[in-house]
Amino acid sequence: MERLQKVIAHAGIASRRKAETYILDGRVKVNGQIVKELGTQVSAKDRVEVDNVPIYQEEPVYYLFYKPRGVISAVSDDKNRKVVVDYLSDVSERIYPVGRLDYDTSGLLLLTNDGNFSQTLTHPKHEVDKVYVAKVKGIAEKKALLPLTRGMRIEGKRVAPARFEILSTDVKAQTSIVQLTIHEGRNHQVKNMLKAVGLPVQKLKREQYGDLTLAGLRPGEYRELNKKEVSQLLGKAKK
Ligand code: URA
Repeated sequence: MERLQKVIAHAGIASRRKAETYILDGRVKVNGQIVKELGTQVSAKDRVEVDNVPIYQEEPVYYLFYKPRGVISAVSDDKNRKVVVDYLSDVSERIYPVGRLDYDTSGLLLLTNDGNFSQTLTHPKHEVDKVYVAKVKGIAEKKALLPLTRGMRIEGKRVAPARFEILSTDVKAQTSIVQLTIHEGRNHQVKNMLKAVGLPVQKLKREQYGDLTLAGLRPGEYRELNKKEVSQLLGKAKK
């Protein structure tokens, strides 16, 4: 179920704010009845009309995208920079990213037009593991990284405990490769956590989301998720 104004906005009829005005003005019908209640819940089976014109509710679709570095996790950008949906121009549905990866972060990004799916997966209380691999400045040592596993405060906020593995260190270059598994999705979370233990991130990639990996994809490529993958993800999120 979705809120009526969101369904109208997703169908591309109007912005969410405008859709609310249409509802309040009595221009919207659900199954033939005028509905003036903001936040009325409707499903794909309900017939929604704006000014007596039925709107088309899209089938939900789910994509796994290998985001390259240097792309914005959004559907548009006011500075005209490349955005993730530019890579999925063959997809006719109005998809958008589930959460975000930083401009300079590469890796696994999900896209969908299903608001409930997106909300469920991005809610901090839902513990879907995300695995990141970071190249950091400095030599990573287990002892210094241990605070990450206990949970720490960053910018005044408590972040949940993470798991880590030191994959390699390069003494000559004074860099290390660290794998970090977290289930929250705060802004710049991995960069902030590693910086807090003295290891500033030089390069970051998300390699896994739940059980999903980037296997078979190169940067810029995408594939559709199958039904089993979608229900597995939701199952993990709701556990
Ligand atoms: N953590 C970060 O710091 N950046 C990302 O893009 C994702 C997680």
